[in-house]
Amino acid sequence: MKNITLIFVLFCFGFFACKQEETQKEEALSPQEFIKENIAFSGEKYTTMLAEHTDTQQSPRTTDPDGSFKTVAPRGWTSGFYPGSLWYLYEYTGDEKWKKAAENWTAPLVSIKDYTGTHDLGFMLYCSFGNGYRLTNNEDYKTYMIDGAKALSTRFNPTVGLIRSWDHGSWQFPVIIDNMMNLEFLFWATKATGDSSFYNIAVTHADNTIANHFRDDWSSFHVVDYDTLTGESIWKGTHQGAADETAWSRGQAWGLYGYTVMYRETKDEKYLDVANNIAKFYLDHKNMPEDLIPYWDFDRPGEERDVSAAAIASSALFELAEYVDGALKEKYEKSALKMLESMASPAYKAVDEKNNNFILMHSTGNKNGGKEIDVPLVYADYYFIEALARYKNKLEGKQIYW
Ligand code: GLY
Repeated sequence: MKNITLIFVLFCFGFFACKQEETQKEEALSPQEFIKENIAFSGEKYTTMLAEHTDTQQSPRTTDPDGSFKTVAPRGWTSGFYPGSLWYLYEYTGDEKWKKAAENWTAPLVSIKDYTGTHDLGFMLYCSFGNGYRLTNNEDYKTYMIDGAKALSTRFNPTVGLIRSWDHGSWQFPVIIDNMMNLEFLFWATKATGDSSFYNIAVTHADNTIANHFRDDWSSFHVVDYDTLTGESIWKGTHQGAADETAWSRGQAWGLYGYTVMYRETKDEKYLDVANNIAKFYLDHKNMPEDLIPYWDFDRPGEERDVSAAAIASSALFELAEYVDGALKEKYEKSALKMLESMASPAYKAVDEKNNNFILMHSTGNKNGGKEIDVPLVYADYYFIEALARYKNKLEGKQIYW
């Protein structure tokens, strides 16, 4: 009996010693190893994605409620993210396999270069052709993007002083906070062509968004509707958030990223102030969970998370940290990294789940519309990889953005 007890005690000791060693090994990952491991993981997922889905006209998007894989045609707003992630994987690894895949999945988007039916051309063309051009200098890509920037500019209304977001719905001239994400593409177009009209549209849009989209606490409405005759705002509310007065989490992240880019491109301090104010609302919010992965709406604590908001915010904060000093810089860097570490944990990264070959789980696309609730989203993956890239650039003392 004594022997059995001794064997049992030794077994337990061995088991816990091994467990502790495992935990220590995980904890001991250097930042470089952390990045390498997560890129390798992303590469594994997307290698299987490439093998299982070969129709390049249908870009991966999410998972349907029945668990099936959901794709999007080139005109869908998310069509640029998958090719964009493939370009990032090429950039990290230098492996020609990723370049070939990125080229294959970017090519179908030529069909939308003159498309004037959406404001999302920045997401669609800049994440795909933009990264491709940056990494290959393919002059065709540059031409397509200039055409795309012209198409996007047709949606700018000088009376309202904003780019129209949607053509659907009963609004007169709806503008959503997400639209701030398309301005980076317009800044690029001015640099590529020397035509300042793209720059002027971006600045006018950003200024009018400051005037109308934000509440006193620097949270933002999702949608603002404008009168096209007077240019006045006539309604403020939501489409994808929980209610008109609540703070839809991804919208806050789009605003944070958008105004960080505005400061980068103009060096106008007013945009830095806006970005800092949004960051304060976002990071200090009483309903922000410990792991910094927000609930899908800041005013719906305890409900589903939105990992996509965390991925966008993490990437934005790595950049915003470059423009501030002292305690604020440290706060942004620590928060960006904490978000990255949370996303990379098995709570959110699809380590033991097929997840339709997407990298991250637990995003929420449009709970208010009853769609894409607690699912993978291709843009969560894209901004996760981008945040990893920015972290890597920071560690290597390189420019954070491109
Ligand atoms: N731009 C659409 C969204 O964030 O859902």
